[in-house]
Amino acid sequence: MSDLLKKVYDPEAFRKKGYQLIDLLAAHIEKMQSPNLQAKVFDPIAPEVLYDFWKKDFENPEGAFYEKALPLFNHIHHPKYLGHQTAAVAPDAVLAELFSSFLDTGMGVYEQGHTGVVLERLIIEILSDKMHIPKAQSSGFLTSGGTLGNLTALLCARAVMVEKDIWQAGYESQQYAFMVSEEAHYSVDKAIRTMGLGEKGLIKVPVDALYRLDTSQLEKYYEAARRDNIIVIGVIANACTTAVGAHDPIDAIADFCEAHGLWLHVDAAHGGALLFSKKYRDYLNGIERADSVILDFHKMLLTPSIVTAIVFRNGDHSYRTFAQKASYLWDNAESREWYNLAKRTFELTKTTMSLRIYTLLRHYGEAIFEEYLDRQYDLAKQFARIIEADGHFEMPLEYPESNIVCYRYFDPAFSPSDLDELNLKIREAVVADAEYFIIQTRIEGRVYLRSTLVNAFTTEKELYGLLEKIKQVKSQIS
Ligand SMILES: Cc1ncc(COP(=O)(O)O)c(C=O)c1O
Repeated sequence: MSDLLKKVYDPEAFRKKGYQLIDLLAAHIEKMQSPNLQAKVFDPIAPEVLYDFWKKDFENPEGAFYEKALPLFNHIHHPKYLGHQTAAVAPDAVLAELFSSFLDTGMGVYEQGHTGVVLERLIIEILSDKMHIPKAQSSGFLTSGGTLGNLTALLCARAVMVEKDIWQAGYESQQYAFMVSEEAHYSVDKAIRTMGLGEKGLIKVPVDALYRLDTSQLEKYYEAARRDNIIVIGVIANACTTAVGAHDPIDAIADFCEAHGLWLHVDAAHGGALLFSKKYRDYLNGIERADSVILDFHKMLLTPSIVTAIVFRNGDHSYRTFAQKASYLWDNAESREWYNLAKRTFELTKTTMSLRIYTLLRHYGEAIFEEYLDRQYDLAKQFARIIEADGHFEMPLEYPESNIVCYRYFDPAFSPSDLDELNLKIREAVVADAEYFIIQTRIEGRVYLRSTLVNAFTTEKELYGLLEKIKQVKSQIS
């Protein structure tokens, strides 16, 4: 072995660097919990400046890399991080990730993945159980993100529901479609277009006043599609929607699907986590009737990105999506071994994501998820009351159904478009300041500020502070 390769695999150097890295991250998480935390959530550095910084570093590396890089990340564990939906990850899940990345066996077939493959099955069984589906009947797997999860589930729906073998023969002239609420995540639209169904492949049904799919409209849109000679394959229910966190009525949608012989897919990327909450589980009533469900562990279940579960009520369906011949992996493309995962997943090489979940459940039990979820959902409801009491804001949903809260600075003297402009400027100023991190969204065409309460270190104190910060930047703008 060359000297360089000896250095690469030197156990002593690895041990030393590993300890140093864990020390750095432990100090970081300690700092994030400090009552006197002064640090900004991130460094509001411009992309070109940051590019030049790292370009110079690459040309002339100086100092310890991780120490240098840490301040240049957005700090999701910071109590004032009130932005996107991804989890403030549990350190134990990160250790599991380190372990599995080190072993890095791949997960395509059992002879490669072994323990990772078996743990994946156990996790799907736990989810089936929580969904009240007999585990002997259901099946599923983990995949790389909600976007891919939605695509995989909808491809499966097409394979099962359409008589013609589109996988083999491609489309002819027949138009197929799925129905979904106007509030669905854009990954659903992306999946439909990726499947080659085009714009007509997605029938958008209006929502009610609480941003839930208005089930009274389903029949009308379904009949209109039939008149246009469009074959509807299924309906997608949101649990919950991305913008405001509204839960579609799964039971009522399941009734409609049953009446018309349609596939029911539940996009529970965000809210599927509530399977682990007794307090908020009712939002998922009817999920046991879904043909397919996706759930992101990297959103509300504390695991590093990305880990998405897909559960099929009828386990046989999970083998229908892809039919691939790969003689170097398996001899018989038709046989169904649960442990040769690549027969069912989009990916061939896939990270050993199951370890991140399994270690959390093994160390802490389901209580880890339940306590975290109930805390964050309770806090979101409290935040809505704080916003309401303040008197300077309006909200699209007075009573948030999740840990997502939308709000905007309101002044009756402003026109709706002036309010949009004002709130865009407020968000820009808040982010430029970097004491807090919040995001923005459009709801019914209007600009709102949006916060997802993902962080177990966030308390009411930070939420009051955020509103004060917004009012302060607003007074500087106008
Ligand atoms: C409801 C919903 N579905 C799907 C997705 C896509 O998930 P991912 O980012 O894991 O691809 C998101 C992401 O925010 C989402 O909110």
